[in-house]
Amino acid sequence: MRFMAQIKFPCHMSLASLVIVILFTTTSPIFATKDCYFPAIFNFGASNSDTGGLASAFEAPGFPYGETYFNRSTGRYSDGRIILDFIAQNFGLPYLSPYLNSLGSNFSHGANFATVASTIRMPTSILPQGKFSPFFLTVQSIQFKDFIPKTKLIRDQGGVFSTLVPKEDYFSKALYTFDIGQNDLTAGFFGNTSIPQVNATIPDIVGKFIENIKNIYNLGARSFWIHNTGPIGCLPLILASFPSSIKDGYGCALKYNEVCQYFNLKLKEALTQLRNDLPLAAITYVDVYSPKYSLFQNPKKYGFELPLMACCGNGGKYNFNSRGRCGEVITGTKKVPGSCLNPSSRIIWDGVHYTEAANKIVFDQISTGAFTDPPIPLNMTCHKNST
Ligand SMILES: *[C@@H]1O[C@H](CO)[C@@H](O)[C@H](O)[C@H]1NC(C)=O
Ligand SMILES: *[C@@H]1O[C@H](CO)[C@@H](O)[C@H](O)[C@H]1NC(C)=O
Ligand SMILES: *[C@@H]1O[C@H](CO)[C@@H](O)[C@H](O)[C@H]1NC(C)=O
Ligand SMILES: *[C@@H]1O[C@H](CO)[C@@H](O)[C@H](O)[C@H]1NC(C)=O
Ligand SMILES: *[C@@H]1O[C@H](CO)[C@@H](O)[C@H](O)[C@H]1NC(C)=O
Repeated sequence: MRFMAQIKFPCHMSLASLVIVILFTTTSPIFATKDCYFPAIFNFGASNSDTGGLASAFEAPGFPYGETYFNRSTGRYSDGRIILDFIAQNFGLPYLSPYLNSLGSNFSHGANFATVASTIRMPTSILPQGKFSPFFLTVQSIQFKDFIPKTKLIRDQGGVFSTLVPKEDYFSKALYTFDIGQNDLTAGFFGNTSIPQVNATIPDIVGKFIENIKNIYNLGARSFWIHNTGPIGCLPLILASFPSSIKDGYGCALKYNEVCQYFNLKLKEALTQLRNDLPLAAITYVDVYSPKYSLFQNPKKYGFELPLMACCGNGGKYNFNSRGRCGEVITGTKKVPGSCLNPSSRIIWDGVHYTEAANKIVFDQISTGAFTDPPIPLNMTCHKNST
């Protein structure tokens, strides 16, 4: 047991509830009761957590991206905010500036190294000609390594400069968040590889993920919040591209989701091992797959309709086709696909990414601790578990 219960007993508390509190605190494996202080967030990932990184290096997707919340395209792949924005907001921190954004960024409370289309492993085809981001996870961790000494130089200049970078002690106190892996799997699905072949690459993908987490730990990171990968087989991208795939009871592509589940199992196992290898780290595995999948299982419960249809797209069974994606001019025309009437009634925004409404529901569920291993809420993820 590493953490003493810090519970104050109000005078009016009945004996019965006191007994319950004692029972609870002595049987629960986690004794941390104090919220953590995270003065900064450093994020690594792909489109699910990009706040404008790829858009800084290349260009932002067109309107209607951003229409619901920012009223302009910020480079986020949603109609509004993403899960990372809700995490920052939860701690009263500003939305994270992309590391790659050279104009108007303020890194005083963290930086975002994620870019759309990033993979864990080195991609074989990169933008602008190819498909994937040149800023794969290893590059993101090199950028972070570079970032630390540069912020010291800037801080030492004093004045306004020092208000643009994190304080020195923020690096050890910060929350380090990760959301990456989806593109390594889709690279396989869209490459010339069978589903079992993609599945067989997972141990290597997870191994590279862990290597990078260790590197970031060695640079001083201590609190880790690591998302698993969502049910890719429920995305219009997969459903429209592989129409003959076997479906589950909710219309999602079964085998594709099984590959995601295997990735998640391997990641969870690897993080359990990593807790032994990195004794000073508090490592939280966050299951985003389950709350995302439950949206497709039970859309009405969450206020959604047409669960497998993209809100913004260019027609077809899933309102997704590659001749004209959301915000892009449709081949041979001057038209740009617009969004559905009410994005907040939809789960999927553009065929690949979630709407702000769906992101908010997933955030609300993962932040309670109900989907994390160890089962502690977001606010307490600086505490090492005692297992
Ligand atoms: C959103 O942007 C459009 C176009 O720039 C503008 O006409 C509109 O007034 C803006 N709405 C809000 C609420 O800012
Ligand atoms: C950067 O952001 C911090 C926190 O929001 C703020 O206190 C500081 O003044 C900002 N710096 C500049 C130059 O705007
Ligand atoms: C895909 O793989 C098959 C079998 O390995 C091969 O015959 C075929 O030429 C490949 N196609 C492409 C486009 O690489
Ligand atoms: C992936 O590989 C694991 C381990 O061999 C196996 O248990 C699982 O069924 C495979 N999944 C798919 C979809 O091939
Ligand atoms: C976590 O802390 C924030 C800020 O103190 C608070 O607004 C939020 O309600 C807390 N969340 C939970 C789930 O306790």
